[in-house]
Amino acid sequence: MARKVISPGGRLSGLAELPGDKSISHRYAILAALAEGTSEISNYASAADCQSTLACLRRLGVRIEPGKDRLRIAGVGLEGLKPPGRALDAENSGSTMRLLAGVLAGQPFPSTLTGDRSLRKRPMARIADPLRKMGATIETAAGERAPLAIRGGGLHGIDYTLPVPSAQVKSAVLLAGLYADRVTTVRESVRTRDHTELALREFGATVDLGRSGDREEAPRPEALAPGEARTGPACAGGFAGIHPRPKLHARQLTVPGDLSAAVFLLAAALILPDSELMVHDVGLNPTRTRVLDFLIGMGATINVASLAVRDGELAGDIAVRHSPLAGGRVCGAQVAEMIDELPMLAALGPYSESGIEIRDAGELRVKESDRIAALSEALRRMGATVEEFPDGMRVAGGGKLRGARVDPLGDHRIAMALAVAALGADGETTILDAQCAAVSFPSFFETLARLRDAST
Ligand code: S3P
Repeated sequence: MARKVISPGGRLSGLAELPGDKSISHRYAILAALAEGTSEISNYASAADCQSTLACLRRLGVRIEPGKDRLRIAGVGLEGLKPPGRALDAENSGSTMRLLAGVLAGQPFPSTLTGDRSLRKRPMARIADPLRKMGATIETAAGERAPLAIRGGGLHGIDYTLPVPSAQVKSAVLLAGLYADRVTTVRESVRTRDHTELALREFGATVDLGRSGDREEAPRPEALAPGEARTGPACAGGFAGIHPRPKLHARQLTVPGDLSAAVFLLAAALILPDSELMVHDVGLNPTRTRVLDFLIGMGATINVASLAVRDGELAGDIAVRHSPLAGGRVCGAQVAEMIDELPMLAALGPYSESGIEIRDAGELRVKESDRIAALSEALRRMGATVEEFPDGMRVAGGGKLRGARVDPLGDHRIAMALAVAALGADGETTILDAQCAAVSFPSFFETLARLRDAST
């Protein structure tokens, strides 16, 4: 187990380059595999999760060459995947398993998807149910967990309303919809990341998109404690309808940097006095940027220095400066909009004036770890005052953390959130099993060290 010792202090400065966005990389790889012709993808995520997707696609007969600065994927067309021979291993990657389950539900051959211990504990009924409604046969291990044995083909288009806000589930259904007999529509009451819809259009599919008229009310000011962040209304939900059997065309695409990875660096800069950091070419898709609104609402100085649309996705540079943070509350629809950033926000709690409260976030218990339990335990070890709820946690503000030995329980986002929290603590923190950060941000510790060195 590689442990990492973090000593506190210093400041962050310079220019941060990020790994390619993990969510977008999965989608580009899968759609490039199903397209006709060879696609070239620049800045494909170095995240281990996205390498798992490539390994599964190779098993399905897709030729993938990692070029010097771009990945070449020789598409086999919608009908060209080959039976994989043995189980496809998604390792730690929920997106790999759930997105590929959608594609495999459309194939005329049987396949099995499995994963590591963490992934085999995560709920799969959420994708098995709609894919069964479309006509696929899906057998699961006890409790609707992976491995998933899929017998697909002959799918019917459905009109499906997501019971949990989940971009992975939406994407599984839309990808299966490529193989259906009529339009497949997915409806969501909370807007989740829309990379699948945008990528499908980039590759030439027809996707109908609409938003529901009503907007959720913003949290009422009187419900907020003094100093708490006031954020705007959550994005309204909507629907996406995929037209079946499109001809997908190979594309040359560039993946923007991963905002969910950038957030760890932004948080480090916010904690460490005198920090001033520029983050280059980061994805700023509005379904992902709620966390920036939230941080700014807490008092963070974050500026978008440039903004442009590339390959259907917004991307730009952002600048951040050390700032005092007020504290805030995340609840309702905001949870889905910031789902991957909640560990970092929770770990910012002690560095804020009034603390951070997260509610309505039971989903955090079924991520790569039980993130509420993992964070509560580790932050308490570091001296934070933490109240744990079934659906969230409250981390008191205005406190001081102390260095400790903490276990991220194999969860990349917990490891990085704790490493950042450790920067402002008294004394050294040892993070056990820190290499799990590579699941989404393999160069995280090197990047952090470089940005700190740059200021000495
Ligand atoms: C992802 C969606 C989110 C997120 C995950 C990546 C995606 O999961 O937590 O890291 O790429 O679609 P859910 O949609 O299941 O909440």
